[in-house]
Amino acid sequence: MKSFAVLAAATLALASPVAKRESGGLLLCTGANATGTCDYTVYPLDTCVNITAPFSGNTNTFAPDGEAFACYPYAMPCGGICTSPEGCTLGAIDFDYPNKFNLSAVQWAGVASFRCFTKTTTTTVETEEQ
Ligand SMILES: *[C@@H]1O[C@H](CO)[C@@H](O)[C@H](O)[C@H]1NC(C)=O
Ligand SMILES: *[C@@H]1O[C@H](CO)[C@@H](O)[C@H](O)[C@H]1NC(C)=O
Ligand SMILES: *[C@@H]1O[C@H](CO)[C@@H](O)[C@H](O)[C@H]1NC(C)=O
Repeated sequence: MKSFAVLAAATLALASPVAKRESGGLLLCTGANATGTCDYTVYPLDTCVNITAPFSGNTNTFAPDGEAFACYPYAMPCGGICTSPEGCTLGAIDFDYPNKFNLSAVQWAGVASFRCFTKTTTTTVETEEQ
């Protein structure tokens, strides 16, 4: 019994890194510090999501809820053409991002869309995208 449980746990531990995409929970609020109108939704990863009313142009709280994933906020809607040499994203926002409770502090309350992705230390996917 006991050794079976240990084996099952070891198998799960091996399987989880290659398991299918996880999801990312994200809190959006119109106000800083999770004030105003808020919406908490678990979004599919690697999928672009448009920011819609009441958050469009007014996304002050943008707070991913876990350490395992991060999100790129974009200045243009999904499918929009990026004309900025900087790439039209603020950069990855994760659980530890200092301004996640006040995007106005970095002039990004007008974020138009975002895409979340799993953070890993071993994957080569991000560098392959270059
Ligand atoms: C927002 O949170 C920060 C950090 O906890 C705090 O310093 C600040 O006073 C808060 N502001 C408001 C309006 O709640
Ligand atoms: C996002 O918004 C843009 C512009 O309104 C639209 O063309 C696109 O289809 C939307 N994409 C999604 C995934 O909602
Ligand atoms: C958020 O940042 C803006 C711009 O720096 C500032 O005016 C505002 O007081 C900040 N809000 C909070 C709640 O910290």
